[in-house]
Formats: sequence, C-alpha cells, structure tokens
Amino acid sequence: GADGIRGDVIKYFHRRIDSGTGVIYPVDLASGDEILLRTSPEEESPGHVEDPVVTKTKKISSMDMEALSEAVSCCRRCALSESRTNTVFGDGNPKARIVFVGEAPGRDEDLQGVPFVGRAGKLLDKMLAAVGFSREDVYIANLLKCRPPNNRDPLEEEVMECEAYLERQIELIDPIVICALGRVAAQNLLKTRASLKAMREGIHYYNDTRLIITYHPAALLRNPNWKRPAWEDLKLLRKMYDEETGEAAD
Ligand code: URA
Repeated sequence: GADGIRGDVIKYFHRRIDSGTGVIYPVDLASGDEILLRTSPEEESPGHVEDPVVTKTKKISSMDMEALSEAVSCCRRCALSESRTNTVFGDGNPKARIVFVGEAPGRDEDLQGVPFVGRAGKLLDKMLAAVGFSREDVYIANLLKCRPPNNRDPLEEEVMECEAYLERQIELIDPIVICALGRVAAQNLLKTRASLKAMREGIHYYNDTRLIITYHPAALLRNPNWKRPAWEDLKLLRKMYDEETGEAAD
C-alpha cells in the first residue's frame, strides 16, 4: 500500500544521503503525500551533527489550511499547472457548515484566482441568497484547482492528482453537509458513473459527511427549467443546516 511505498522511498533517499549523494528532493507520491528530504546538514554547515536525514516531511493529509493553500499555489502535479494563470483554492468561510464543490475554474476564475466569479458564480450567489446565505456563510471550492483548457471536462489523472487537496479542505472545515454542483463534481466525489438524474434528491456520503447534489449553475443558465428543482435542492440544504445548527427556519 501507500505506506509501504512511502517507506521504500524514504529508505532509498536515506541510502542516497548516506552515500553522500543527497540533495533536496521534493517527492510527490500518488497517495497525496509530499515528502521533502534534505541533504545531511554537514554539507550545509560542516561539523554540525543533528538528525542527519529527514528534516521535514509533510503530508497533505496533515496540513493546515494555510499550508494547504500554499501547496496548491505552487502545485505541479499535473499538466494544468503549465497552462493556468492562477490556481483557485477556495472562497468563503473556512468555518462554514456547508461546502459547495464545483468542477474546475473557468476563464474568469483562472484570471482572478477565486472560484465562481463569472456568470455561473453570479447565479450561485443568487441561489445562495434565495435561501438566506451569503458567500461568507459557506465555503466554495472546486474538484480541480486549475483551469482545464477550453473548460473541457477534468481528466481522470487530473482528478487523481488534485483530489487530496479538496479532501483535506473538507476535512479541515468538517461541514454538516457538502453540496456537489453538477454531475462531474458528484461523480468524482462519490466515485460513481451514475447520472445526475439518478443521484439528485438522494442523500449521499463523502467520507463521513452527508452530500447532496444539485445542478451546476452553468447548466441552469442553459436550462432555466431546472431552476425550480434546483431551488428545491437548496431548500433541502437550508433545512439540513437549520436542523443541525438549531437555527429556526424562516
Ligand atoms: N464552474 C465551476 O465549476 N467552478 C468555478 O469555479 C467556476 C465555474
């Protein structure tokens, strides 16, 4: 498993360092671990003897929000890092009880480094307002932190490389409920190929957190007929929030 691979990688670098060929190795592992191994301190300050090998190991799964945001901003795990203008980490309140998850940054998001700021984002703001939420009451993130060229669907490999960031964001926020925006976000969070129609209106789980699914706001811009059912989804979200926080419903 991942721990075995991690152990092997560490052993390998220990050997390199012991044999005097150690340098700085940032290592990305598919499991989402980032291991930074540094050369023996003697090489940097001769005579200095301390823990000679591992000076820093950091896993995405143990980062705080600041470290995570920093890691995303310099991420090179997939090719989207070459075409992006900005990474798009997340927006809203990191103490929010509701997390919305979209698909990936679009053009406006890539330019500004903030999720859901384009036309779809304006509609999302209106949808939130319709059930009494502002952006500061929720947290908004995407499956991918970088824009796919021409807004194409995320590739499996891109999701694989990126999902540890979102997973850690959600773990740190620990919301009452996640709302997946659209089919692509829902399928990837739930690891299923089911259709949006089959998944909507159900209560699902992401790790141990309840997850509901509604239409992506960009889809609502194309199909205004779906606005009514989307409104029902948001009312359910509001109800779950009120029940959990003890706030009186309006
Ligand atoms: N669509 C998304 O899925 N995410 C954004 O941030 C913007 C548009």
